[in-house]
Amino acid sequence: MYKERIRLARLLDKVVSADEAAALIRDGMTVGMSGFTRAGDCKEVPFALARRAATEPLRITLMTGASLGNDIDKVLAQADVIARRLPFQSDETLRRKINAGEVMFIDQHLSETVEQLRSGQIAPVDVAVVEAVAITEQGGIIPSTSVGNSASFAMLAKKVIVEINLNMPLELEGLHDIYFPVQRPYRQPIPLISAEQRIGLPYIPIDPEKIAAIVITAKDDSPSNALPPDAGTRQIAGHLNGFLAREVSAGRLSPALQPLQAGIGTISNAVLHGLVDSPFHDLKMYSEVLQDSTIELLDSGRLAFASASSVTLSKQVYQRFLSNLEQYRSRVLLRPQEISNHPEILRRLGLITINTALECDIYGNVNSTHVSGTHMMNGIGGSGDFARNAHLSVFVTKSVAKGGNISSIVPMVAHVDHTEHDVDIIVTEHGLADLRGLAPRERAQQIIANCADPEYRELLCDYFRRAARNGGHTPHLVEEALSWHLHYRDQGTMRPAQPVQPLAA
Ligand code: COA
Repeated sequence: MYKERIRLARLLDKVVSADEAAALIRDGMTVGMSGFTRAGDCKEVPFALARRAATEPLRITLMTGASLGNDIDKVLAQADVIARRLPFQSDETLRRKINAGEVMFIDQHLSETVEQLRSGQIAPVDVAVVEAVAITEQGGIIPSTSVGNSASFAMLAKKVIVEINLNMPLELEGLHDIYFPVQRPYRQPIPLISAEQRIGLPYIPIDPEKIAAIVITAKDDSPSNALPPDAGTRQIAGHLNGFLAREVSAGRLSPALQPLQAGIGTISNAVLHGLVDSPFHDLKMYSEVLQDSTIELLDSGRLAFASASSVTLSKQVYQRFLSNLEQYRSRVLLRPQEISNHPEILRRLGLITINTALECDIYGNVNSTHVSGTHMMNGIGGSGDFARNAHLSVFVTKSVAKGGNISSIVPMVAHVDHTEHDVDIIVTEHGLADLRGLAPRERAQQIIANCADPEYRELLCDYFRRAARNGGHTPHLVEEALSWHLHYRDQGTMRPAQPVQPLAA
């Protein structure tokens, strides 16, 4: 059955077992693997590497598009195969090793990895391992449910292993648009001026001589682990929809809004889902991941087009999407993450970006990555690419975490991913702070009044008032600014031992 998928006949004798293919990867090598937010990862070679590591030393630098599914990061971390990892992950076991200092993790803006590779700023890829639907007559690789960094890995690697996945329908062919920016110093503007535009090829054009091995597999992507919308995320969606409707009424946005981006995770997915019941129409997405909410929006007719780098869906929606590709084909496009996240294009298209914060401070700085300022959660992913270059940069979060013991609005974030300069709007279930055109002291009042949980609101007001008395453009009590995090570390809660008495205004 795989023979019809390897259309360049002379490559048929490259079909080998996963163990034989994995033998091309040796201790100390840098490996670029496909996979972006659990979609389109290679499903055989990583496990062969883990098996081999049980009997011989095997430590590699592993680069991917973003996070992997099928427990690949877990299995490789448990087998001690990963020495360095970039640019994103979301696995619990790997996270533990990163936070123990056993794996060196380079947390990168997702648009940047291949620029750094191409210019020799990071170690070159020895072997690329790419999941594919098929190989064309010329030896081009047709990716599956993600493009991520696969195209550049395959172009830049010395050797390429292709995993042909028989579970991926051939109808995926044609969904991809592979474009590489011209090398500097000859770089030209990227000729993309609308979300639905095609500028490249439907396959990765590599020299077929580089294809050193082909492995056959028949496994599905892991389903998305985003949770369905709940009361809190519905309220967040409601506040954002209300705000966008007011922007339309004021003439600053049209009912088609501007191209939308929504980050990974439960909250962003739920917020986007909220648009199904909104008055907006002819929406477009220019995002990096298409989640269940995208398919709901396409099905509802609200969304006219969706461009991204991967499709990460729940089990049910995944089956629906893959079995009805003809229905979605003209409205969905998958690009390399360098293009889906490219600052030049994002600024040109004028995106409304919706990303998730772990915590925000009273001035609008956002921490999306480091729990308590030190411990890596997943990574910055594309949130920095999008927030920095957005037309309207929105951050969403629930106002509290861990049963209310953590306030997501704090005096000072313990780690900054998105500075106050890149954050226009913050939304929690309690309300929305519109920070545009506001100075830090004005922002603090908006954020505390609209976004903080009532249980922590007076405490934040008290901090801000005392800090403001000391003066400063961005007032802080430096000796106290991170005391909430210390209190959580020592007491398991940010709640004060004694309630704060409201001060006279
Ligand atoms: N301190 C400590 N933990 C916190 C926290 C805080 N201030 N706020 C949230 N958390 C915890 C939650 O309790 C939850 O933990 P659990 O899984 O043990 O229950 C976890 O963080 C996830 O939070 P959740 O509220 O479920 O949100 P989410 O699934 O939407 O994920 C991020 C939120 C920030 C972790 C996630 O969006 C992320 O990794 N973002 C960075 C990358 C990114 O934004 N990419 C966007 C482009 S795709």
